[in-house]
Amino acid sequence: MSRPRPDRRSLLLAAGAAATAPGLAASAPAVHARRRRPVMVGSANALPGMQEQLPRMMDGLEPLDAAIEVVKVVEADPNDMSVGLGGLPDEDGVVTLDAACMHGPTHNAGSVGAIQGTLHPSEVARLVMERTDHCMLVGEGASRFAREYGHPEVDLLTPQAREVWLRWKEGMSERDDRLQPAKPKKSGQLYRYMGEELTLEQLLTTHRITGTIHCSALSLKGELACCTTTSGLSFKIPGRIGDSPVIGAGLYCDQEAGSAGGTGRGESAILSCASFLCVELMRGGMAPKDAGMTVLRRVTEQAQRGAAWQPELVREDGLPAFNLQLYLLSPGGEVAGVELYGTHAFAVADEDGARHEQLDALHG
Ligand code: GLY
Repeated sequence: MSRPRPDRRSLLLAAGAAATAPGLAASAPAVHARRRRPVMVGSANALPGMQEQLPRMMDGLEPLDAAIEVVKVVEADPNDMSVGLGGLPDEDGVVTLDAACMHGPTHNAGSVGAIQGTLHPSEVARLVMERTDHCMLVGEGASRFAREYGHPEVDLLTPQAREVWLRWKEGMSERDDRLQPAKPKKSGQLYRYMGEELTLEQLLTTHRITGTIHCSALSLKGELACCTTTSGLSFKIPGRIGDSPVIGAGLYCDQEAGSAGGTGRGESAILSCASFLCVELMRGGMAPKDAGMTVLRRVTEQAQRGAAWQPELVREDGLPAFNLQLYLLSPGGEVAGVELYGTHAFAVADEDGARHEQLDALHG
């Protein structure tokens, strides 16, 4: 039996009741000046999708449609090794994907974790949100659910990703039976990861890859939605799920307070409820950049405490040994992109066009 859809009147009544519910006075939404211009913010690799969707948003495209269409470009791109097709596999060589989406006006969300053989986990997350009473499906159940709704089984492990995985396996230990090539090819080949071009050595050593794409969108009507999708941590333990499908960690959206999402070390976003905290700080009246920096300071403190058990979480100078990027969008259309370190880019689209801007780094 299909569940009746709430009509707009009951949604408004429910929203009014929530706003006046006892105990919520302390978290009364901040008043954000509304602007009647669509805005998108997200990770650097969201730029091509934003360029495609911005004209449609100017014509009134719904924000959830926009956010999902933006991330689908990278999900289907075999050359981006951080998301979807071509993403780096787990330690067994199996590509498993995580994705989630959230819709501000109805405050609903859907997600899939460790789904296999599915080109567009973002669309399956939306199906979980719109066609089930659940928020999350994982593993074999999520993959079966995708097939039921017509998502064909796809081999996501590209030859390029297989080659990188094999080099990782060969380099794991000098005391096993796998040998690295005697003369590594000096092909100068570069691998695309979240909008950056990396050498094989950078992929295997400098970076422990936690690539992802996030997009938050504000529509012409002033409605918010967001989506995050990833192949997760490269060479992860099979079954590992990162922050991307965890509502409140890898993304969060509240129609009255804002939208946020993250890329980078998922465990740090889970432990800090990073996206939820970004949005709640904006609800309290903080500008997006201040909210993002406050969350990164929290993440830094948590890493320092975590180092008592896991020393590799911090560098010699006591700062986190990993990176986390956060992308924030207020209901009024103000954006920010922040990260723990570096000079990386993030993507923004508004009436001035779609472009890269530099993330603000907490620790320089
Ligand atoms: N942020 C992506 C992951 O850690 O899986």
